[in-house]
Amino acid sequence: MEILDLRHFTSSDLRPLLDDEVRVWADLLCWDYTSSAEMILRYMDAKFLPGYAAVSRGKVFGYSFFVYESSKGVIGDLFVRSGDNGTNREEVERRLLTHVIETLQQSPGIHRIEAQLLAHEAGEASQPFIAQGFSRHARLFMVLPLTIQIDAKLIAADIELRRWTDQDYQPSAGVITAAYRNHVDSLINDQYRTLSGSLRFLNNIVRFPGCGTFDPEASFVAVNRRSHALVGAILCSRVRYDTGHVTQICVLPEHRGLGLGKALLAATVQNLSQRKFSALSLTVTEANTPAVDLYARLGFETKRVFDAFVWEG
Ligand SMILES: CC(C)(COP(=O)(O)OP(=O)(O)OC[C@H]1O[C@@H](n2cnc3c(N)ncnc32)[C@H](O)[C@@H]1OP(=O)(O)O)[C@@H](O)C(=O)NCCC(=O)NCCS
Repeated sequence: MEILDLRHFTSSDLRPLLDDEVRVWADLLCWDYTSSAEMILRYMDAKFLPGYAAVSRGKVFGYSFFVYESSKGVIGDLFVRSGDNGTNREEVERRLLTHVIETLQQSPGIHRIEAQLLAHEAGEASQPFIAQGFSRHARLFMVLPLTIQIDAKLIAADIELRRWTDQDYQPSAGVITAAYRNHVDSLINDQYRTLSGSLRFLNNIVRFPGCGTFDPEASFVAVNRRSHALVGAILCSRVRYDTGHVTQICVLPEHRGLGLGKALLAATVQNLSQRKFSALSLTVTEANTPAVDLYARLGFETKRVFDAFVWEG
């Protein structure tokens, strides 16, 4: 078994492995990974994807890639086919991650590395991160079956909900930045710390298929009726033909505890149910107890616990 630079390979070398990954994401997370896989393969052919491949007898059976975002490296994926060639999956994952982490740490100008391994159970691939001094944050993957409805009459009198539009980018970025100030999630994702970072986050969610396909019909903003100022938002993507995923929900600190979070979730749930979706998923940091408790009270169940890792050099 060898670990080689991913850029030695083409999409046809990687396609069988990604077909397997698509099956794993469907089984574990009810997530159709096809459009993400196609994007990865396009980047492969453009020789644009930095990362490493695990190769045995000329065949790629594992890979991990990363992207550079100014002074940050983000580990995009890690996948190793189980039971291939008698190799130990954990050992191959450890070697791939060690190569990726070392490459990023030695890249000039890179001061921060982030990774979220959604398809790995917490602790499963943590060893190379811990060894390199990353901090680790447990995150929950939660799912609400859409047989459950949310009763939300609590909405404050001066606030109304309306559908997301393209005019909401800038004000939503402002709400995100304010909502995540001194919040555990801005330790995990530094984009939340600035307006420009929050705009980049929104742009990725709305315009790129990395986290499903943005679903504007099921995405809402909460606005003040008189000033029209945005005070909260929920963004939803479609991750399978019948499954929505909340990619963002936040409410300004001074408007919390009034039922707005619940009302935003209710609007998304109602819209998806009308369109015959069968489930709504989301991810949340375990330490974010107000959010975790809210989701649990509304009927979301924790299906998996996974890790987010952060390194600052
Ligand atoms: C999570 C979040 C969206 C919830 O929004 P919210 O408008 O406060 O939610 P709600 O008012 O509908 O529900 C919060 C619950 O906590 C209770 N609560 C009481 N006081 C509260 C307070 N000061 N702040 C927050 N919640 C409070 C509410 O009564 C409610 O309980 P209930 O459902 O039994 O009535 C909001 O806390 C937030 O924006 N947090 C920062 C960003 C974030 O963590 N997003 C989630 C990432 S996964």
